[in-house]
Amino acid sequence: MTFDLSIREALLVDGSGEAPRISDVHIAGDRIARIGPGPSGTREIVARGRALAPGFVDVHAHDDAALLNASDMEFKLLQGVTSVVIGNCGFSLAPLRPGGAQPPGNASLFPGFGERFRDLAGYRRAFAAARPAVNAISLIGHNAIRSRVVGDEEREPTAAELGEMRGHVQRALEQGAAGLSTGLIYRPGRAATSQEIIEVGRPLADYGAVYATHMRSEGDRLLESVEETLSIAEGIGCRAQISHHKSGGKRNWGKVKASLARIDAANAAGADVTLDAYPYVAGSGPMIEYFDLGAIDLILAEAIQVASCPACPAYDGRRLTEIANTEGLGLAELVVKILRLPGAERTVAITFLMAEEDVETNLRHPLVMVGSDGLPNPEGRPHPRLYGTFPRVISEYSRKRGLFSLAFAVSKMSRLPCERFGLSSRGRIEEGFFADLLLFDPDLITDCATYAEPKQSPIGIDLVLVNGELASVGGRTTDVRAGRFLHFNR
Ligand code: ZN
Ligand code: CU
Repeated sequence: MTFDLSIREALLVDGSGEAPRISDVHIAGDRIARIGPGPSGTREIVARGRALAPGFVDVHAHDDAALLNASDMEFKLLQGVTSVVIGNCGFSLAPLRPGGAQPPGNASLFPGFGERFRDLAGYRRAFAAARPAVNAISLIGHNAIRSRVVGDEEREPTAAELGEMRGHVQRALEQGAAGLSTGLIYRPGRAATSQEIIEVGRPLADYGAVYATHMRSEGDRLLESVEETLSIAEGIGCRAQISHHKSGGKRNWGKVKASLARIDAANAAGADVTLDAYPYVAGSGPMIEYFDLGAIDLILAEAIQVASCPACPAYDGRRLTEIANTEGLGLAELVVKILRLPGAERTVAITFLMAEEDVETNLRHPLVMVGSDGLPNPEGRPHPRLYGTFPRVISEYSRKRGLFSLAFAVSKMSRLPCERFGLSSRGRIEEGFFADLLLFDPDLITDCATYAEPKQSPIGIDLVLVNGELASVGGRTTDVRAGRFLHFNR
C-alpha cells in the first residue's frame, strides 16, 4: 500500500485516555492506514516533540449558519476542531418553512442568515454546496419544530400537532440527525411540558439517538431540572446529554457537585446520561430571552457584558454597569432601553454567573465532554469560547492547573463525543479510522482569546487534518475544505 502522508515519531495521544506513546502514523486517502513503521508516503512530516491527537469534536455548537456562510470555519478549525454537533438548544435551521415563522432565538444565533430548510435533507444539500472545512452532525431543534407546527403561541399543542411534531423528529432521524435538542428557557420551547417532549421525542428510542437539553433552569432549580431530564430520557427510553452543565448565580455555586452525583447514581441504576461544559465562568446568549421587561433581574444585569448590540455597536464589549454609569441611567432602565432598540432580538449578552470551582468540577468528571456553545458572529466582541475553548482545556486546566492528564483531556474532546453522538470510525487514532487529526506542541498550545479581545486564534497547533486532507498548516487555513455532513451511526 502506498501512503499519501506519513507522520513520523509523533507522541500519539490516541483518544483512548491511555498514556501517550511515540509512533509513526500513515495516512492513505481519508483514513489512517497504518500505525507503526512503514515506507514513507508521498509526503512526510517529522513530528518529533509534537503530539498527534484525534480531531476535537465540539459537541455544543451553533454553527448551523456559519457552516454555510463562513465555510472556512477558521474559528473552529484553528482550535483543532474537525467536527461540530449543530442544532443545539432547540435551535436549528430545519424543519422550517421558507418565509415562515422561526423561533426568535434563531435570529440572534444565526445573524444575517435568511435561508430556511424544510428538513434536514435540505440543509444537507446546502452543506454540500458550501463545502465547509469541518464535519458536522446535526440535532433537530424542538424550538424550530414547535414554531413550525404550533407557531409562536405558548400553548399546549393539540394531539394532531403533537403527532406532526413527532413526525418531524422521525424524518430528521431518517435523514441522519443525531437526536433532538430542547431549549427550555427559550421561546417557544419553554411552553413545553415534560410530557410533550416525551411524545415528540419517541422516535429517538428506535434509533438509539440523543436527547440533548438546555434545561429549564441552570441555577435556582438546577437539581429539579436534572430530575426532569432524567424522567424525559426514561419516558422516551433514550440517552441524554445535558448541555453546558452549570450552576449560575452565587447562591447556587457548588450545586454542580450534587447534580453530577445524581447523574452518576442514575447511570448506575440504568440511565444513560452524559454532559458537556465549556472552560469559562461566563455564559452567553440572546439577551432578550433572559429578561422579563416588567421585572428586571438586577443581579443578572450586573453580571452582563454586551457581546454585540447591532443597534448600538458602541456598547459592544462593555459591562452594563459601566454603560449605566456613563449614561447616568439606572441599570434596569438601561436594560429596558437596550431591549427596546430596533433589532434587539439580535443583541447578545455575556453573563458572568459561574464559579471557577464549578468549571473545574465539571471538566474533571469523566462523562463531561467539551462544547464551546460559541455563537459565530462577525460583529462585536463574542465570548472568547468561540475561538479558544479546546486549546484552553489543555493549556489552562491540564497543563497549568494540573487537574488532569493530556490524555484525559484529549479523550473527552474526541473519543467520548464520537461514541455518544454517533460519529462512527472517528475520535481515535486507530487503523481504519478517518484521518481527522491535529498535530500540536503540548508545551505551547494555548488559547489567546480574551473577553476584551476575543477574536484571536490559539497558538501551538501545527497541522489539522480533516478526512485525510490538510485543512490548516501553521495556524492558517488552507483552501482544502473537506468537511462532510455526517449521518448518526450508533
Ligand atoms: Zn443553551
Ligand atoms: Cu447553546
